[in-house]
Amino acid sequence: MNMETNRIATLTLDDGRTLELPILKGTLGPDVIDIRNLGKVGLFTYDPAFFSTSSCISEITFIDGDEGLLYYRGYPIEQLAENSDFLEVCHLLLNGELPDAEQKAEFISNITRHTMVHDQLARFLNGFRRDAHPMAVMVGVVGALSAFYHDSLDINNPQHRVVSAHRLLAKVPTIAAMAYKYNVGEPFVYPKNKFSYVENFLYMMFSTPAEEYVPNPILVRALERILILHADHEQNASTSTVRLAGSSGANPFACIASGIAALWGPAHGGANEAALKMLEEIGDVSRVAEYVQGVKDKKYRLMGFGHRVYKNMDPRAKVMRETCYEVLKELKLENNKLFELAMELEKTALNDPYFIERKLYPNVDFYSGIVLRAIGIPTNMFTVIFAVARTIGWVSQWNEMVADVEQKIGRPRQLYRGAERRDFVPVNKR
Ligand code: CMC
Repeated sequence: MNMETNRIATLTLDDGRTLELPILKGTLGPDVIDIRNLGKVGLFTYDPAFFSTSSCISEITFIDGDEGLLYYRGYPIEQLAENSDFLEVCHLLLNGELPDAEQKAEFISNITRHTMVHDQLARFLNGFRRDAHPMAVMVGVVGALSAFYHDSLDINNPQHRVVSAHRLLAKVPTIAAMAYKYNVGEPFVYPKNKFSYVENFLYMMFSTPAEEYVPNPILVRALERILILHADHEQNASTSTVRLAGSSGANPFACIASGIAALWGPAHGGANEAALKMLEEIGDVSRVAEYVQGVKDKKYRLMGFGHRVYKNMDPRAKVMRETCYEVLKELKLENNKLFELAMELEKTALNDPYFIERKLYPNVDFYSGIVLRAIGIPTNMFTVIFAVARTIGWVSQWNEMVADVEQKIGRPRQLYRGAERRDFVPVNKR
């Protein structure tokens, strides 16, 4: 791809020196100043949290927060959520194109054949305390996969990378369901190949030896949508973590474990859990007005509202809202106290000038939290579901990075503000 624009940014220093920096062009989105030559004048840039820095060239996901756009490989998220299924989206993210019928069948068969985990892994999992947070289990067990699948760890071998990607995509839901079963004290349920990816996950979560689980198509579709909507989100904190870990040549299982660790934080993957806790704290529809007043008085924030990037409605939230209403209707939960209160909160926030002026719309996590709760998934599993969905994004971004000829070990610089050089003082003289 030709990225040249013939445009140049000229940097003039106070000592009169100048430096010409090329301006690069992407397919969509703002142009980017190439600052790689800045070192030649002995300078670095300062950009904490990388708000103005492109860390890589990527062809996977495009976001325009002001316009409320999210595209995977060029396809708008709304179209994918409406017409596609999760594994088709995985193929798109990983390989760049939607599969034709034959490719799709082959991809599904590859993933299905990898859903079981090495039996020894169950013993490894049994070493955790029963009350371990399922995200702690995920970080540990997904990282441990590298000790079980030695035959696909050569990251310079494209075939190994494909096998590892398929293994991760197939095994992460199995491990997630095992983490849940372990937590609630029920026996692990082996995957069943007759089910689709999402049906199989719900089956491993909710089936017991005493009661067979029959997947409900509306709930399957709802979870399918949650997975599609969370599959990738360009260079966010966990994805950047995966890329940075991978830039050292670390194996993909270890890299994805680092992504899961980054996702665990409440500022990233924990928002739908926080939204649900807030609803429980409000407790009753009669307290909504009082709670909203507290938000306006800046005592606390409304969880599940607002977004750092999307300043118009989050396109994922529009889809999730529709799904949320569908699920509540299917499960006849419209009159449930918690959901009634959630809908009242949504109505209040959408009509109140405080929220309208600040463009604070309900975000995807507000609705996905409600849907997950309605499906019966416990709150401490919400971030785990996010990790199941995001695994394909992490793997696709990792794969793109490893194949990139410009890739080097990541190494941010710093502005040092510590002590200047000083000499060691023996302890009796300090
Ligand atoms: N409730 C009440 N007021 C808010 C909220 C909120 N959730 N979010 C922002 N504001 C107000 C804020 O007080 C400020 O008001 P003022 O101009 O009077 O000072 C104004 O809106 C702008 O706030 P900001 O802090 O500049 O906004 P931001 O873009 O930095 O914050 C955010 C983004 C997501 C951190 C924030 O909206 C928030 O804390 N939301 C609640 C937590 C949440 O739901 N997070 C999940 C986001 S989606 C996750 C994902 O996509 O992975």
